[in-house]
Amino acid sequence: MRSISIKTKNHTCPVLIDCEAVEDFAWKNVQTSRVAIITEKTPRKFFGKELEKTLKKNKIPYDFLEIKGGESAKVLKTIEDLANQMLVKGYDRDCLVISLGGGVVGDIAGFLAATYKRGVKLIHIPTTFLAMVDSSLGGKNGVNLPQGKNMLGTIYQPVAVLINLEYLVKLPEREWRNGFAEVIKYGMIWDEKLFCFLEKHILTRDQKDLEYIVSEAVKVKKSIVERDEHEENLRKILNYGHTIGHAIEIASGHAISHGEAVAIGMSIEGKMAVERGILRAGDYERQNKLLVAFRLPTEYAGDLSRLLDIAKGDKKNKGGQISFIFPEKIGKANLHSLDK
Ligand SMILES: NC(=O)c1ccc[n+]([C@@H]2O[C@H](COP(=O)([O-])OP(=O)(O)OC[C@H]3O[C@@H](n4cnc5c(N)ncnc54)[C@H](O)[C@@H]3O)[C@@H](O)[C@H]2O)c1
Repeated sequence: MRSISIKTKNHTCPVLIDCEAVEDFAWKNVQTSRVAIITEKTPRKFFGKELEKTLKKNKIPYDFLEIKGGESAKVLKTIEDLANQMLVKGYDRDCLVISLGGGVVGDIAGFLAATYKRGVKLIHIPTTFLAMVDSSLGGKNGVNLPQGKNMLGTIYQPVAVLINLEYLVKLPEREWRNGFAEVIKYGMIWDEKLFCFLEKHILTRDQKDLEYIVSEAVKVKKSIVERDEHEENLRKILNYGHTIGHAIEIASGHAISHGEAVAIGMSIEGKMAVERGILRAGDYERQNKLLVAFRLPTEYAGDLSRLLDIAKGDKKNKGGQISFIFPEKIGKANLHSLDK
């Protein structure tokens, strides 16, 4: 069992990576009155039984609260519906919320746990590659408003994150790509070794490689979140590719997925960095070559000026300036502000 702890000011969150992570977790130590398992159809069908068996074995009462899934479910109404169901069932402040699913389920469950009766315990069981390498780590959650993604949300650390790589066996190709976009981003902004590993293991699905990639991803998140949990400074670099990426997701009505949008975002923002003399053209070419090798898009067919208009509403902006994360070389990035 690999265990990496993310230690923030008031909290330690163990991230367990193992095919027995769910079963072997020390459930007895969580001390909970009842568990609300937030999930959607596919992860429940594939992994619900295993979780049920484990909770029964540990004599923990539970309910499955199923949501619709998809980005359109990430709205306040979903939180309200789930909280209402929990209230009707008598969930008190000692309850535990578990997310069983991808980033959408995780973001909803995280926001619900952070706000239900002013905060209850949370465990993430990520079932997509993206959720394993990114969204379940570091405590961010959120729901969307018509004006933008994740406009309402908190930073709320889970009790634990339980990762079973065997859950990925039936993951559709497009979902793999979404996760790899974030891993390539980690390579660009922080971890040159990981970037080089990906260059040598294109499209890998080998268990040992995946174990390495996921644990490196957890370590990147750990290094950054432990230094700046509340995104006052360093944590902003995780948004490389996301300023433009979020705008692309919105402009496409979410037809372009998160990972695809981030890949195009990295391509556009990386080019901006090259044009400003911040990033060497050679490093930029390596980035785009790697994105293409992992079958991610790097070109945007729509109107670029519209993207910049949407990006001006981004959460990172202050005053009359628009902020971008620009890589300075492979493995290093910084925040740069431009006039709007
Ligand atoms: N909180 C954060 O730090 C953070 C970071 C990155 C992304 N996000 C958010 O994550 C969301 C995207 O998450 P996602 O990419 O996991 O998408 P998702 O949650 O929509 O899941 C993608 C699809 O995979 C299916 N699925 C889930 N597990 C599966 C499995 N094991 N096998 C087969 N199919 C499976 C789901 O049913 C769904 O159809 C976005 O809303 C994004 O904003 C949050």
